[in-house]
Amino acid sequence: MRTQVAIVGAGPAGLLLSHLLRLAGVGSVVLESRSREYCEHRIRAGVLEQGTVDTLNAAGLGTRMQREGLVHHGIELLFGRKRHRIDLTALTEGRAITVYGQHEVVCDMIDAAVEHGQPLYFDVADVSLHDLTTDKPWVRFTHNGAQERIDCDYVAGCDGFHGISRGSIPEHALQAFERVYPYAWLGILANAAPTCDELVYAHSERGFALFSMRSPEVTRLYLQCRPDEDLAQWPDERIWAELHARFESDDGWLPAVGEITQKGVTPMRSFVCEPMQHGRLFLAGDAAHIVPPTGAKGMNLAVADVRVLSRALAAHYHDGRDDLLDAYSSTCLERVWRAEHFSYFMTNMLHPSFDDTPFVNRLKMSELRYVASSNAASRMLAENYVGLPFRD
Ligand code: APR
Ligand code: PHB
Repeated sequence: MRTQVAIVGAGPAGLLLSHLLRLAGVGSVVLESRSREYCEHRIRAGVLEQGTVDTLNAAGLGTRMQREGLVHHGIELLFGRKRHRIDLTALTEGRAITVYGQHEVVCDMIDAAVEHGQPLYFDVADVSLHDLTTDKPWVRFTHNGAQERIDCDYVAGCDGFHGISRGSIPEHALQAFERVYPYAWLGILANAAPTCDELVYAHSERGFALFSMRSPEVTRLYLQCRPDEDLAQWPDERIWAELHARFESDDGWLPAVGEITQKGVTPMRSFVCEPMQHGRLFLAGDAAHIVPPTGAKGMNLAVADVRVLSRALAAHYHDGRDDLLDAYSSTCLERVWRAEHFSYFMTNMLHPSFDDTPFVNRLKMSELRYVASSNAASRMLAENYVGLPFRD
């Protein structure tokens, strides 16, 4: 096989890259180790920044999102038994976020890929990358028991944090920056109508909790737990009792109880690898960086990376310019580090930690009160939460 860009991974990064390249007249082949079914049902986060929504709409991928996505103009911070609203739209000259599950975005992109005849191979195995520092890189993989080879001009490593792309770069050519948090999130999906129109981020002495939603019938909830938390210790009744204790407030608001249809533990990690490029391999999305979910940035960063990469590749093929490709890593890392800082800030502020001293926990309360009461501080939070506008 021969293509211009070989893309490893069919998550939001790889799928969107293949669409943007197709729209720019650049050919690509996508290789995914999981089945289509698995990719379409993998439950992940669900907050889309304004810029992500605009990018998906401009790529013709937004029809169902416009119909089913829930546009939110604010978020709530709950602490000291009171809810404090951050008016995202008023604080950011009209911007908003959209709540639409990542797996729904993935379903829409797979449907569009199939419709447009985009080469997309699920269930591949043994993917390996070769001759990345020459101008003739190639990719080997196994599909239906047969060994295959793709010769290409560029490789896009969009295979997530545990993929093989980052590991194909020699260790001495990369610098990794990492922070592992001393807590995780236990997340559930419940068949219960959301009882609040906006997300509620709660800091209680018992730990952090988050109220979110997927549709007018489905609530998404998380609670801070230990990184090695055993789900077997969390029968449904214990989850609801703990959520209700953490969301307790003076106005009596609580999430509604319903059948729990999904349970999982999400680890909390910050990670960045620099640079995001090695020879003809470009890393995008979780393959290059991870954020803790508190800032709701993961998928948005993946979209921002491939937006930059698709434009840079289009400039190479159509205008013979490589300056955008050369600047790929530094262009992306600027946004990545802003999101890293914001996610770290939100995570630290909202999670009381038993590893922290009482002094540090008091600082967190002071920061929450400041963010909720100062126009300058709430504007800072809002601007980062809705996402910085694209410069192009
Ligand atoms: N070969 C082929 N595909 C692979 C391989 C491999 N060796 N390893 C992993 N993959 C696939 C995974 O199965 C997955 O479908 O790569 C895809 C990577 O997708 P994501 O993990 O969703 O990463 P990305 O597209 O960068 O999207 C980032 O995902 O984890 C969330 O919070 C994160 O929202 C963010 C988003
Ligand atoms: C979610 O709805 O899954 C969600 C919302 C906000 C976050 C993280 C996850 O910060």
